[in-house]
Amino acid sequence: MQIIDGKAVSQAVKEQVKNECEQLKQQGVTPGLAVIIVGEDPASQVYVRNKERACEQCGFYSKKYALPESTTQEELNALVRQLNEDENINGILCQLPLPKHLNDKEVINLIDPRKDVDAFHPENVGAIMIGDYHYLPCTPAGVMELIHSTGVEITGKKAVVIGRSNIVGKPMAMLLLHENATVEITHSRTVDLPAVTRTADILVAAIGKAKFVTADMVKDGAVVIDVGMDRDENGKLCGDVDFENVKEKCAYITPVPGGVGPMTIAMLMKNTLTAAKLQNNIE
Ligand code: GUN
Repeated sequence: MQIIDGKAVSQAVKEQVKNECEQLKQQGVTPGLAVIIVGEDPASQVYVRNKERACEQCGFYSKKYALPESTTQEELNALVRQLNEDENINGILCQLPLPKHLNDKEVINLIDPRKDVDAFHPENVGAIMIGDYHYLPCTPAGVMELIHSTGVEITGKKAVVIGRSNIVGKPMAMLLLHENATVEITHSRTVDLPAVTRTADILVAAIGKAKFVTADMVKDGAVVIDVGMDRDENGKLCGDVDFENVKEKCAYITPVPGGVGPMTIAMLMKNTLTAAKLQNNIE
């Protein structure tokens, strides 16, 4: 079994982005990312801090908009409209989840699709569906990079995705399909889930339940990708996969932390670079 080193793969992606950023700067363009965070969710605060740090590493301009929990929909919408018009900003990211009184769909729909570096806007989601896109959603794109890093061929393989969210499960299945996997999406209503997951050459877990995927659910020699960010019974960070037991069975596995997490951020940097190029008609 080999552990897939998400930190190393993400570092390589960010190095490449940094080099390209230097070239852009010579042409007078500095990629700019605006990150909006509303309220005090501790996990979101960690994610946003890491995104800012990655911008710094890549040489981007970044601006954080930390809004209070009491922010109204109108105030949030006004900020997005302002950032849509801001020439120094190429990418706009509104960290989810938003506080309950705010409508995330409304915000996503307002973001200029050309600045939608999360690829959550319906226009970008549709573009991904037909395989004609500028931006890929960060987490699924990061998972594809991790699978590529193993050298395992995807074409013709059976891939099973556990979870059907708009952010991970659904686009994940689409990207695997684009690379010629035979894909099955499973979820909480799937009958005999272990029987399905045992057919997976590539298993992607995006459930949100600590150590949900146990060794008996995994095929010998599978590639196991863990998108989970959960807490175990002792409050320790862990994934959706029971790492210690599953690692004995599979060929490749991602750890939590240090697997998918750093890749999500690296792919956000890649999308922001793409946004800066697109908006300045470069390449
Ligand atoms: N919350 C959890 N994952 C993400 C993500 O990829 N983007 C945003 N904006 N919010 C998230």
